[in-house]
Amino acid sequence: MIIFNNVTKVYPNGTRALKNVDLEIQDGEFVFIVGASGAGKTTLTKLLLCEEKPSGGRITIDKFNVSRMSRFKVPKLRRTIGIVFQDFRLLPNMTAAENIAFAMHVVGESKKTIKARVANFLKLVGLEEKGACKPAELSGGEQQRVALARALVNNPSVIIADEPTANVDPYMAIEIMELLLRVNKLGKTVIVITHNVNLVNYYKKRVITMKDGEVVSDRKGGMFDEV
Ligand SMILES: Nc1ncnc2c1ncn2[C@@H]1O[C@H](COP(=O)(O)OP(=O)(O)O)[C@@H](O)[C@H]1O
Ligand SMILES: [Mg+2]
Repeated sequence: MIIFNNVTKVYPNGTRALKNVDLEIQDGEFVFIVGASGAGKTTLTKLLLCEEKPSGGRITIDKFNVSRMSRFKVPKLRRTIGIVFQDFRLLPNMTAAENIAFAMHVVGESKKTIKARVANFLKLVGLEEKGACKPAELSGGEQQRVALARALVNNPSVIIADEPTANVDPYMAIEIMELLLRVNKLGKTVIVITHNVNLVNYYKKRVITMKDGEVVSDRKGGMFDEV
């Protein structure tokens, strides 16, 4: 379970990116987070990953107290969360397969396990034919799926996708969403940050709306206010 308790984030330049955010996300939930650019959505994910520290309040994920975590525990926390970044952050000189393998290598998996699991996850995201391609040789949607496979490969309990449909056509957006729903059916918590009103209303899941660093609505079943 993810809990934000009265969380505030003020960046060093004085920007108040989050103001008194209270939020609870249960294990296995599927949640959309929506809101205009600058609303604080990415800041929320940075706090979850301990890339930034909150200025006030408390964040817990399962057994981790993220807001006051010692540095040596951070890698363990990050293994429980798989993230697909807005800009993918794939390593350009590595192939799709190597990008996925690298994520396993850094957590110390054996070569044999890596080989088997990389093949499985390429298949899961429908890229078994593209494992030898470098990111520049892949479309936006394909890169997106490599990033998703990489996020999943260490079996995290939470998956966060930051604007996963921003750079793809409407058909690919549906495919990516279906993939994320499948991942959710496997029991993982899925958090999708998006601007895409149509998608949010189509899937009728829980929608958390942020505005100027605050949660302004939190409801089930799609349909959110203009943001
Ligand atoms: N590293 C940073 N330093 C200062 N201000 C930042 C930083 N990152 C984000 N911000 C500001 O914090 C606010 C929230 O940003 P962000 O979380 O990226 O919003 P979103 O992802 O919803 O577009 C914005 O006003 C943004 O300019
Ligand atoms: Mg953002």
